[in-house]
Formats: sequence, structure tokens, C-alpha cells
Amino acid sequence: MKQKVVVTRRIPQKALDILEKHAEVYVWDSEEQPIPRHILLQEVEDAAGIFSILTERIDTEVFEQAPMLKVVSNMAVGVDNIDLAEATRRGIPVGHTPGILTETTADLTFALLMATARRLVDAVQFIKDGKWKSWSPMLLTGQEIYGATIGIIGMGRIGEAVAKRAAGFDMNILYHNRSRRPDVEKQLNAQYRPLEELLRESDFVVLLTPSTPETYRMMGEEQFNLMQPNAIFINTSRGKNVDETALYNALKEGKIWAAGLDVFDKEPIDPDHPLLSLPNVVALPHIASASIATRTKMAVLAAENLVAGIMGEKLKHTANPEVYFAT
Ligand code: GLV
Ligand code: GLV
Repeated sequence: MKQKVVVTRRIPQKALDILEKHAEVYVWDSEEQPIPRHILLQEVEDAAGIFSILTERIDTEVFEQAPMLKVVSNMAVGVDNIDLAEATRRGIPVGHTPGILTETTADLTFALLMATARRLVDAVQFIKDGKWKSWSPMLLTGQEIYGATIGIIGMGRIGEAVAKRAAGFDMNILYHNRSRRPDVEKQLNAQYRPLEELLRESDFVVLLTPSTPETYRMMGEEQFNLMQPNAIFINTSRGKNVDETALYNALKEGKIWAAGLDVFDKEPIDPDHPLLSLPNVVALPHIASASIATRTKMAVLAAENLVAGIMGEKLKHTANPEVYFAT
């Protein structure tokens, strides 16, 4: 008999085909609506695997409810929706999808940076509203990108891919990271800075750290105060890394010039959230990895991780590799 797996959202057919070959598949087949908690808890009771996305909290309650569970496979690089320590305690590998979304996420990060600096959203609205009366010297003027200083916080794969794009724009590249990256320093002429110095010197501050207890609200009042009044803050990592009240105040009071945000503390963000009322915020609904090709690849990789897990094989990418070293 095939083992059961629970898929918490509609996924591309290509990924579903992989799962169906090896497992009895339950799918919460909705594009928009997350699986209701009670249905998730009910469906995992006899499941060997869970294919999860960022909207599901996979915590002790879920693990308790799923005595046959062998693997959780998250269709994301970040796994902050999963209680990783609890999974590890139970010897359950957690799959994720690093690598394949790196370039796509860097593309969007750069698109957001450019849209914010050059006021693209304002400009599109301006023309649609019939406000374009004449060419005018300072109409819709924004910030220079070419030659500006970019400060990348979090020099992982995505940070490096953003730095590559920045190099193409002849930007001066600063970075802050837990460990130095001599390879990136050499190849892209990136310079390491302590966080405070990076914030002071950068025209663009781009946040690309994962969400961990150490990065929780790492960008707060003190950090925004260090930035320049012409500076732009970009976040394509996780909303929890930012104190949104402090960001709002910094934008409102002109301590920084603008922000481009793909992620929020609470997602979906409330349409009445004060941040969305600001003209100098470009906001996107967490779409950094959302190209058709990349999202399909992520789903396929997550399906492969899941199948490996229920077969008792090592996953291609495990967020808690410690499970394999435990005795
Ligand atoms: C998306 O935010 C991801 O972690 O892949
Ligand atoms: C994710 O892929 C990262 O390491 O930045």
C-alpha cells in the first residue's frame, strides 16, 4: 500500500505527478485559501509526509497529531513556518528548496530597488490618472542607481546574486554578514562593513537575512536613524526582521527616502496598514521567487524531497541535516 502524503495547497501538475507515482496524495486544492487548521490536523493523522508552504505553521501540535510522519517538505528556502527544533528532536528531516530560486529572487530584489528608486509605481499611476500635462524638469524625479552605494545585509546565495547585479550597475558594494565572504570580496569588489557603518554609508540598504531569533526586528528605530535621508530600504527576506512601526516612522518623518517591501510582519498585510498609506512605499505580495519556471522547479524539488523522505532516503536539501547525524 502506498503511504499517504498531505499537500497543503494546489501545486503544479508536474510536482503532483511525482508524488502520485509514489504516494497516496491528499491535496488541499485551492489557489487562494490556506488549508484550515482542523483539516490539516485531521489529514496528517495517517500521513507519512507533509508538503507544506509558508502559510502553514508546522509545530508541535501538528507533529503530535501525526505519529507516522517521516518528513516535512517545505516549498520555500526559508523554513521559519516550521518548528525546526521540534522536527529535529523527533528525527524528522525538513526539506527546503535553496539554490533554484536564488537568481529569480535577486531579479525581483533588483526590480523592487529600481521601482522604488525611480518611482515607477507613482509614474504609472500618474499617467493613468491623466495627470501628464507636459515634460517638466523635476517631474517624478527619483534616486540614482548607477554608481550608488548598495549595502547588502546577509551575503548568502541571494545576497551574492544581488551583488552581481549591482556590479553591473557600477554600484559600490558593501555587505554585512555573520562571516566574511572573501570570494565575493574578490570577485565583485564587495567590502565588508560592521552593520552600523553599512547603514551610515549606503544609498540602498537591502535586507536578505533569514528569519531567526537573532534577526528578529534587527532593523528598528536605531538602525533607521543611522541611514541617510536619501537612502532606500529594500526587504525581500522576511517581515519579522523589521520593526514596521519604526520603519513607518522613519519614512513618514523623512529619515529615509523610501522603502521597497516584498515581505511583512503579518502576511497578507492588512490593506489598511499604515505602511501602505505612504506614497514612498512600494509594496509587493511576497513574490520574489514568483516566475513560472522557478515556482515549478521549487514544487518539483519539494516533491522530490518529500518522496525521498517517505522512502527513508536522504533528501536533496535538508534544513536540519543534524537529523542524519543523530545516533
Ligand atoms: C520564500 O520566501 C522562500 O523562502 O522561498
Ligand atoms: C538562500 O538561498 C540564501 O542563502 O540566501
